[in-house]
Amino acid sequence: MDRIKLNDALDVSRLVYGMWRIGDDADTSTAHVQNKISACLDQGITTMDQADIYGGYEAEEILGNALTPGLRNQIEIVTKCDIVAPAGRYADAKVKYYDTSRAHILASVEHSLRLMKTDHIDLLLIHRPDPLMDHHETGAALDDVIASGKVRSVGVSNFRPYDWDLLQSGMKNKLVTNQIEMSLLCHEPFTNGDLAHLQRLAVPPMAWSPLGGGVLFDSAIAALRTKLAEIGADQGVDVAAVAVAWLLAHPARILPVLGTNNLDRIKQISDADRVTMDRVTWYELYTLALGHEVA
Ligand SMILES: NC(=O)c1ccc[n+]([C@@H]2O[C@H](COP(=O)([O-])OP(=O)(O)OC[C@H]3O[C@@H](n4cnc5c(N)ncnc54)[C@H](OP(=O)(O)O)[C@@H]3O)[C@@H](O)[C@H]2O)c1
Repeated sequence: MDRIKLNDALDVSRLVYGMWRIGDDADTSTAHVQNKISACLDQGITTMDQADIYGGYEAEEILGNALTPGLRNQIEIVTKCDIVAPAGRYADAKVKYYDTSRAHILASVEHSLRLMKTDHIDLLLIHRPDPLMDHHETGAALDDVIASGKVRSVGVSNFRPYDWDLLQSGMKNKLVTNQIEMSLLCHEPFTNGDLAHLQRLAVPPMAWSPLGGGVLFDSAIAALRTKLAEIGADQGVDVAAVAVAWLLAHPARILPVLGTNNLDRIKQISDADRVTMDRVTWYELYTLALGHEVA
């Protein structure tokens, strides 16, 4: 498994394991979560993606309960903050909102450290752009959590280029990634400037829901599914590995964040790095995803 350097303090595995659905699994036992992490490590997937809000603010604790010191040292933890929804510790919130204030960021980091039983977060992301963000305040808070040693690196998620530029202008440290939705079912970032912006900055993006949250294999375009299956059969890999390889083929150095709860699929999807995806094949899939040939 390739590794990608995000800055001098942090490199991550090319495939990232996402824990949004960890609480939805029928089995959330410590042993099963440890098995999932081991299944990832067996494939060279060392980077785990979390957020304070996952599982109604409980997913970080499910991970924390499974993290022995030995396991913690083998992984990088990504987590996120700023979404406040009426659940868990915010059950009294009157409305769902975003909070990029200094007080919220500092408090959220403390919760994440405590719940995951760790002394540092490898990468903290601002989860969603906040219309009320004061970039000087948010930027200084992010610089401060790095200075304190509690967070090694910071980035964002779901930011448009102008949101990124605004926050970056209020900070000393460089933002190291933008985690955005990208897949054969969500390909707008390839043409709307989101990827171009990150490529110009040489910042590798993370792709959330790289299989469209599973829709790719369910209700999505039948011809696309057939083509993915054909390529998979030719190359001896699962269809999901082909869909992920489509993202890996892009020169932006996309880091897909996998969401499967299935131990076998962690291995199957990891075959993505041995799929050959030439330009014509990439465009065949893109054409089917678009529903028409390119102009
Ligand atoms: N930053 C953000 O705003 C944001 C938003 C959403 C998600 N995320 C991150 O991105 C991660 C991945 O998102 P995601 O879970 O939507 O990713 P995904 O990998 O696109 O979708 C995972 C879903 O697809 C299903 N699936 C996988 N392979 C399949 C196959 N061959 N056939 C049928 N179903 C299949 C999985 O079911 P099984 O479990 O049964 O395999 C699971 O329900 C999350 O865990 C989270 O870390 C971030």
